[in-house]
Amino acid sequence: MQYKIARRAASLSPSMTLAIDSKAKQMKAEGLDVVGFGAGEPDFDTPQHIKDAAVQALAAGFTKYTPSSGIPELRQAIADKFQRENGLTYKPSQIIVSCGGKHSCYNVILATCEEGDEVLIPAPYWLSYPEMVKLAGATPVILPTTDATEFKVTPDQLRAAITPRTRLFILNSPSNPTGSVYTPDEIRALGDICVEKGVLIMSDEIYEQLLYDGATHRSVASFSPEHQAHTIIVHGFAKAWSMTGWRLGFLAAPDPIAKAIDAVQSHSTSNPTSFAQKGGVAALNGPQDHLKVWLAEYAKRRAYAWAKLNSIPGISCVNSKGAFYLFPNISGTGLRSADFCARLLEQEKVAAVPGIAFGADDYLRISYATSLANIEKGLDRLDHFVRSLPR
Ligand SMILES: Cc1ncc(COP(=O)(O)O)c(C=O)c1O
Repeated sequence: MQYKIARRAASLSPSMTLAIDSKAKQMKAEGLDVVGFGAGEPDFDTPQHIKDAAVQALAAGFTKYTPSSGIPELRQAIADKFQRENGLTYKPSQIIVSCGGKHSCYNVILATCEEGDEVLIPAPYWLSYPEMVKLAGATPVILPTTDATEFKVTPDQLRAAITPRTRLFILNSPSNPTGSVYTPDEIRALGDICVEKGVLIMSDEIYEQLLYDGATHRSVASFSPEHQAHTIIVHGFAKAWSMTGWRLGFLAAPDPIAKAIDAVQSHSTSNPTSFAQKGGVAALNGPQDHLKVWLAEYAKRRAYAWAKLNSIPGISCVNSKGAFYLFPNISGTGLRSADFCARLLEQEKVAAVPGIAFGADDYLRISYATSLANIEKGLDRLDHFVRSLPR
């Protein structure tokens, strides 16, 4: 049987981060001593009070369909979060709860972009953005950046890339994969250009709470009503509450866009899991004490990993200010990123994601969402690997 695969699916490559993570997990299951730097998820457990809320919901029989865009209680809790933490006023009808931040991004792109539209994506980018744009039939336009600007796109670069076809600009701060965080002034400058040119912004703020060294997060929507009218914020419970497997995300959008996304979601996934939504309410309205503990731990690991990476010949690494990633430059080793990572996994049993997956071949992504002991072991092996390369 000759199967015909639709062009939109055939041209996709499966997520390289998920592939490397599952290869590392498989090697571990085979008894090999693998150190994984590939994970895009916290190594901490979901806080107990959140789990309790979902368990109680299950026990109480909260197991049926809910409104497609989420239960009113959760949409209200999300609107309250935006008011409290970001100074942004949204009606619950402008909030859509989805099956993860990834799903929120996909909903936004599907509802706003089509054939002939261009979507501006700064690189290094979260690897799903360009693939989602292609799935929507639109064209990703990549704005390359390097460690020389801490991986930040400049206002001039953004302005020069905008054409009459530009529909959407994707902003992700703090960033996956670089950990880079735009300052409020930098965010405002980019937002001003989009307002002036009538370009929508999809602002992916899923790492909002994970900040270091006094860095602050400012949503681009918060500078003026015009900025808010040009912005769709995507967010989720995966990173700050360690709820990756729960598949729960959300977005806040101007009314007509929220309405369109509501329709898209009602015909695709319908509601996110009922009892997971109860966990989401507990996450937003409950105590946030866990975050301080996690951030202190991440900060320790980040400091160690950053110093160690910079001590390895041929590697240099700017210090990230957010998320849980470092993005070292490996161009001094003479290897391309895919080759580097394949050999590192083979020879030293260390899993890292090649920068090429994020549109930046001179780098690799190191996730420090793993114990300090693992980081020490893994970076010692990486050090050994680089030093063993022919010079
Ligand atoms: C930048 C960014 N956006 C969105 C997501 C989506 O997360 P989830 O779908 O697990 O909520 C991720 C997860 O890795 C991410 O790194």
